[in-house]
Amino acid sequence: MRVLLTAEQIQARIRELGAQIDQDYPDGPVYLIAILKGACFFLADLARAMTRSVRIDFIGISSYGKGKTSSGEVKLTKDLDTSIEGADVLVVEDIVDSGVTLNYLMHVLRQRRPHSLRIAALLDKPSRRQRQVDVAYVGFQIPDEFVIGYGLDYAENYRNLSDICVLEEPKAS
Ligand code: IMP
Ligand code: MG
Repeated sequence: MRVLLTAEQIQARIRELGAQIDQDYPDGPVYLIAILKGACFFLADLARAMTRSVRIDFIGISSYGKGKTSSGEVKLTKDLDTSIEGADVLVVEDIVDSGVTLNYLMHVLRQRRPHSLRIAALLDKPSRRQRQVDVAYVGFQIPDEFVIGYGLDYAENYRNLSDICVLEEPKAS
């Protein structure tokens, strides 16, 4: 395992994003919607990096199997608890990879008529994009490598690492 982004780098960038989001939005609450499960850590730190009024909710959506590759199948596994009609909604995601998950989710959320709808993603792998996704706030652009930690998992493990690391393939002997 190799460290790509340290906890300090992640926290410093999130403070910048929080300050920028604070400035960009009009008065009134911002609805932060985290995509389960990976984005929970980012949501918790981003919300505390903001000084304005914030509401939080969670949505469950999965496009991946248990491994490192997409199953290509997208499904809603948990819906929001609250209505977002007329709200300023910021979807909080850990990483944008193919874009399949967010492209689908934005389509679903747009139909619920929020006042505004944007995405904040901690990580972006632009070289892997298959579907167009407009990400308003990006923490870090990273190369095409499989990363774990700070919410990101490999087969549900490693989410609790404070750094973001590259999971390297075991070397053939
Ligand atoms: P997309 O639909 O291909 O954009 O995939 C987005 C989802 O795939 C993310 O929410 C992650 O759960 C997962 N994912 C994509 N790349 C990685 C990675 O490098 N490490 C861990 N999970 C990833
Ligand atoms: Mg995810």
